[in-house]
Amino acid sequence: MQWAVATYDTAFGYVSAHGAPLLDLLDPQPDERIIDLGCGTGTMTVEIAARGAEVLGIDESVEMVNAARSEHPHLSFAVGDAHDFTISERYDAVFSNSALHWMSRAPSAVISSVHAALRPGGRFVAEMGGAGNCAELIAAVQTAWRVFGLPEPELPWYFPTPAEYAARLEEGGFVIRLMEYSDRPTRLAECPDGAADWVRLFAPELIAEVPPELAGPLLDRVNELAAPALRRESGWMADYVRLRFAAVRKPGGDELVQPPAPQAPPAPQPPPAPQPPPAPHGHPATQAPSAPHLSVSPEG
Ligand code: BEZ
Repeated sequence: MQWAVATYDTAFGYVSAHGAPLLDLLDPQPDERIIDLGCGTGTMTVEIAARGAEVLGIDESVEMVNAARSEHPHLSFAVGDAHDFTISERYDAVFSNSALHWMSRAPSAVISSVHAALRPGGRFVAEMGGAGNCAELIAAVQTAWRVFGLPEPELPWYFPTPAEYAARLEEGGFVIRLMEYSDRPTRLAECPDGAADWVRLFAPELIAEVPPELAGPLLDRVNELAAPALRRESGWMADYVRLRFAAVRKPGGDELVQPPAPQAPPAPQPPPAPQPPPAPHGHPATQAPSAPHLSVSPEG
């Protein structure tokens, strides 16, 4: 989808503001290597880097990655689809803030890509919309579309229950350390036109599909329908529900190791070579310090 990059950062600063405690859950350590998956314009990527970690921001939007690169030229960013990115180096952690719900095509494929990018014991720490997220906003959209005789809108998000996402993580080779599910009513501080502005910003593709002359009246109706639940004296609220988790990649199931070649008779083994001492921060001493290789559009 096309993102309104400038508005995303200014009007919805809460996406990053609410990420601060998530960063504490990630607890990045100096010299760790961390992926920020769905990094957007790099707001959290720079926070992770500020704690001394080496960080790679990945986002499927070329516009977002370009904005991230120009705002944070000293950091690494790559364009990649979370469903099937592969990366040539192993990471200590994958972090994702308010992005996994956009990766709705095949959530287990995302988990599998994350698993393959992590070293055994590596952490997957994320926050996303959970089941019931934006229920009032979505109900207003669906009702307005129906009232105007439009086909049911196809929503681009995935908002799982904790049980469903936990099952996916466990099936995907993770051990869950924390799974939190909570309401997070959030002020739409810079949405003067309330729910209508929210739709314009987060679901522009829904509006693009309706006849242009209907868009204004349709969004007015969304506002009327959503107002009783979401408009306060102080302004509009969004009825966010958050799923926050921390999981650890189990040892084993190492996708990056090639399957064994067809069996040949065992050759006589030479005596073992002396081993180099371990590297100071847990990375293999033999690892080349080259940039990681992403299989998808590494230069954007
Ligand atoms: C969210 O962050 O929960 C969200 C953002 C845009 C659309 C739907 C949900």
